[in-house]
Amino acid sequence: MEDRIVTPSVLDGEGENEYSLRPKKLNEYIGQENVKNKLKIFIQAAKNRNEALDHVLFYGPPGLGKTTLANIIAREMGGNLKVTSGPAIEKAGDLAAILTNLNNMDVLFIDEIHRLNRSVEEILYPAMEDYALDIVIGKGASAKSIRLDLPNFTLIGATTRIGLLTAPLRDRFGMLCPMEFYSEDELSEIILRSADILNIKIDAQAAKEIGRRSRGTPRIANRILKRVRDYSEVKGNGIIDMESSKAALKLLEVDNEGFDSIDNKILKAIIDNFNGGPVGLETLAYFIGEELDTIQDVYEPYLIQKGFIIRTPRGRMASDSAYRHFNRTRSDKKSRQSTLFDK
Ligand SMILES: Nc1ncnc2c1ncn2[C@@H]1O[C@H](COP(=O)(O)OP(=O)(O)O)[C@@H](O)[C@H]1O
Ligand SMILES: [Mg+2]
Repeated sequence: MEDRIVTPSVLDGEGENEYSLRPKKLNEYIGQENVKNKLKIFIQAAKNRNEALDHVLFYGPPGLGKTTLANIIAREMGGNLKVTSGPAIEKAGDLAAILTNLNNMDVLFIDEIHRLNRSVEEILYPAMEDYALDIVIGKGASAKSIRLDLPNFTLIGATTRIGLLTAPLRDRFGMLCPMEFYSEDELSEIILRSADILNIKIDAQAAKEIGRRSRGTPRIANRILKRVRDYSEVKGNGIIDMESSKAALKLLEVDNEGFDSIDNKILKAIIDNFNGGPVGLETLAYFIGEELDTIQDVYEPYLIQKGFIIRTPRGRMASDSAYRHFNRTRSDKKSRQSTLFDK
C-alpha cells in the first residue's frame, strides 16, 4: 500500500527530491491563501517588534505543505529551524536539551505533535508561555524546582489529527492554521513550477489534467508529474501532453476522479456491502483490511471534501456521486431512507 502513487505520505527516496521542489519564500508558496495572509501579517508585526513569531499549529491531511511552511517561516524570521517529531522525543530530558540549544528567533518544528507523551508535553507549557524551563533538582524533601530562561523561539506544531491534541497544548498556540486541499488551478500551477525546476516539458492542458487528478495534494501532484515524465520519455517524445498524461495515469491506476484502488474499494464496500451506509469507520476499516487511522487521516478527508462520502452521526454513507461514479443507482427503498435521514 505504501507504494501507491496517490499516497500522500513521503515514499522512499523522495525526501531529497522534495527538498528541491519546496518553495523557499512565502510569495513562492502557491495556494492556502487564508493561512498565508495570516502569516504575512503576523510575521511582519513580529519582525517590526523584533520579537519571535507566536507559536503556530498547522493541521490537516499529509502532503499539503505543513513542513514547507515551517521552513519558510524560519527563513522569513531569520532564525534556524530545528526539526523533530512527537514520537522522536522520548523523554522530558530530550526536549529540555533541544530547548536549551535554541537561539532567539529560532523555530522548533515538531511534526506529529499529537504523539508527544504527557511528561514531555508538560515541559512545553512553560516553554511556550513564558520561555521558561522548570527543572527539579534532587529528590524527596530536599527537591527544589529552579526555572531557567529560554531564548525567544517559535514552536511550530504539525498534526493530521487536531482532535487528539490536549486542550492545554492546543490553547498555547497563538495561531491555529487549518490546511485545505488545493484547487485544480493551484495544483496545475504547482505542477508547472515543479516541471520548470526539474526541466520537464509539459503543456498547460496536461498540467491541468494531472492537477485535477492529484487528490488536492501537492505531494501527489509532484509524484504523478515525475511518473508521467518517465512514461512520456519511454513511450512518447518526452513532452508531456494530454495524451501521454491520460495513458500514464491509466497505467498508474489513477481513475478519472484521481481515486486509486483503495478509494474505490472504500466506496464500493459502503455501496455493496453496507447498502450505502451508514457504516461505522471501524467496521469499514476491518472489512477492507486497512488501518483505521489510515482511512481516517488519508483517504476519508478527500472523499468527504469531494462529496463522495457523507459523515453522519451513525456512520459513513455513500453519496449520489459515489453511486454515479460506478454507474449505479440506489435501490428505491434505500434512497427513501437516506432522503429522510439527510433531513
Ligand atoms: N503551496 C505549495 N506550493 C508548491 N509546492 C508545494 C506547496 N505545498 C507543498 N508543496 C510540495 O509538496 C511537498 C509536500 O509538502 P510538505 O510540506 O512536506 O507537506 P506536509 O508536511 O503537509 O506533509 C513539498 O515537498 C513541496 O514540493
Ligand atoms: Mg510534513
